[in-house]
Amino acid sequence: MNYKILISEEQIYEKINELGRRISEDYEGRKVTLIGVLKGAYMFLSDLSRAISIPHTVDFMAVSSYGSSTTSSGIVRILKDLDNPITNQHIILVEDIIDSGLTLKYLMNIFYNRSPASISVCALLDKVNKHPNETLADYIGFEIPDKFVIGYGLDYQQYYRNLPFIAYLEGLVQE
Ligand code: IMP
Ligand code: MG
Repeated sequence: MNYKILISEEQIYEKINELGRRISEDYEGRKVTLIGVLKGAYMFLSDLSRAISIPHTVDFMAVSSYGSSTTSSGIVRILKDLDNPITNQHIILVEDIIDSGLTLKYLMNIFYNRSPASISVCALLDKVNKHPNETLADYIGFEIPDKFVIGYGLDYQQYYRNLPFIAYLEGLVQE
């Protein structure tokens, strides 16, 4: 399948540095934990962590959403839970992409029930047209149209995660 680049490696790099600076300022003096949602966020989290200058820890949650390969059902299965409790901690949930927002809402619910000091959301990509009247993330890298994208951690049937840029897959029949 062919792909077409939507966001280049350089654009991603610059944006992540900007996000890292903002987060470092906003959380100055506080202890913060980045929570990466696997698998999609692994590459973003690793670069974002390097762009944040204040001390922080990282933890991971692995989830898989039921549904077809290109649409989300909102029903999320936890494959791996966090290693550590988040009670009274400042949490930043790091997501690769917000599509319908269902996965994010489901996870936020789980995290709120564990009584953290605060939660914010940092998403590299946001398909804003899919949730028009809701702002779901505090930090957003890029707002993108409602098309299926791959690369920089994002997969199509588990492949293409290694691409260093974000691209559209061409010739993909959207379900
Ligand atoms: P949501 O629950 O509809 O917001 O979907 C969120 C999850 O679906 C993301 O964390 C991705 O794993 C996956 N996803 C949504 N859109 C895309 C896309 O365009 N490319 C690759 N994965 C996507
Ligand atoms: Mg994901």
